[in-house]
Amino acid sequence: MTVRLTDLPRCVLDTEYAVRGPIVARAQELERQGREIIYCNIGNPQALKQRPITYLRQVLALCECPELMDAGAAAAGFPADVLDAARAVIQGSRHGLGAYSESKGMRFVREAVAEFIAERDGIPADPEAIYLTDGASKGVQTALRLLISGPQDGVLIPIPQYPLYSASLTLLCAQQVGYYLDEDHGWMLSREKLEAALADARQRGVTVRAICVINPGNPTGAVLDADNIAMVIAFAREHGLSILADEVYQENIYRPGDRFVSFAKVMHARGEREVSLFSFHSCSKGFLGECGHRGGYLEVRNVPADVVAQITKLQSVSLCSNLPGQVVTYLMVRPPRPGSPSWARYQAEREGILGELRERARLLADGLNAVPGIRCNQVTGAMYAFPRISLPPGRSDFDYCLALLEQTGICVVPGSGFGQQPGTAHLRTTILPPTDKIRLVVERLAAFHRSYR
Ligand SMILES: Cc1ncc(COP(=O)(O)O)c(C=O)c1O
Repeated sequence: MTVRLTDLPRCVLDTEYAVRGPIVARAQELERQGREIIYCNIGNPQALKQRPITYLRQVLALCECPELMDAGAAAAGFPADVLDAARAVIQGSRHGLGAYSESKGMRFVREAVAEFIAERDGIPADPEAIYLTDGASKGVQTALRLLISGPQDGVLIPIPQYPLYSASLTLLCAQQVGYYLDEDHGWMLSREKLEAALADARQRGVTVRAICVINPGNPTGAVLDADNIAMVIAFAREHGLSILADEVYQENIYRPGDRFVSFAKVMHARGEREVSLFSFHSCSKGFLGECGHRGGYLEVRNVPADVVAQITKLQSVSLCSNLPGQVVTYLMVRPPRPGSPSWARYQAEREGILGELRERARLLADGLNAVPGIRCNQVTGAMYAFPRISLPPGRSDFDYCLALLEQTGICVVPGSGFGQQPGTAHLRTTILPPTDKIRLVVERLAAFHRSYR
């Protein structure tokens, strides 16, 4: 029998993913017709000419093709530490990258992740509480699958948010409980707004299971400080919620003086033992930008052993995450050691990428703020700006972004795809196009905005 659209479950039909929505489809159509498109819709750095980190690709090449280790690696001029790392991976994986690993992911990689967390935060970390995932997306989906028991269950998600959360909750037929971030105060969270969202949801009969926080924020670019994080932990404890901490942009911090603080660190410092924490990291962001390799991890804390066993069972339904992604995760948490042969090049590539992102973040926010009718908070972290735009009466942010695409070739996402305060309109753009293209984006957007109004 042919499957008809009307046969499909409501939750599948209702699921939306704005960063790959109709505006992007139109951009691709225009591109096929020969138009030049500047894609600012998705955080996919290597699609926008960011070069891969050499060390990572050299190790990966040898892991995929160990025969190269004998003659090929030397001929290609691969440094000794690349060979050492590849040997460690091949030995650790035992059967190479063509075999399934255990469901949680290869043990030596989880050990390396635990050491990375311990070093980053100065706290103990347990390899058995770490799951290697196909990007952070799969980890988030697993955590939500675990926490949601029925259509009355909901999760607090930021507004604006990254549509992974709204889409995954819709797919689970669960409730999205939006809490507003404070645009006038650098997109920070406020206890008042969290309490209001929770009270409202409870009044509607929703059982709120967890709160999700994205830090640094997508699409806001905001970096939370330790006090803000402590406030969220206190809120979760008081109301019996778990925390989902999406920390995929932890390397993308641009404002001098700011630094990434993990939820795990603040929880440890507070001696918090009751609130369950699910934190996510990814190889797709930072300076690696290895989106296509689908690497990442989920770390759980304050989760009892019998629940951990259930997460392992959920993971085992997909057997394991992909092995090259697990290796990329290993290399993310185990970069070359200072002084090793690959160190200088690795550092130069890292600083080059992060320096350019910092410059583009500044160019974009300053450029947009110079346009009457556009207001943009400083992009202090992540890879995006979420400027507020004033629109002529009767026009939506979708109309605006579509017209922007048609007239200028710039592909951005309407703010409504991420959620926004009623009565406001935004667009979301990445800071990823090369710097000369970012200048072009600012110029064209400014001219377009003047004419559109
Ligand atoms: C906040 C946030 N979380 C998770 C993801 C998913 O990343 P991946 O599945 O590639 O690790 C993204 C991707 O843009 C993101 O912005």
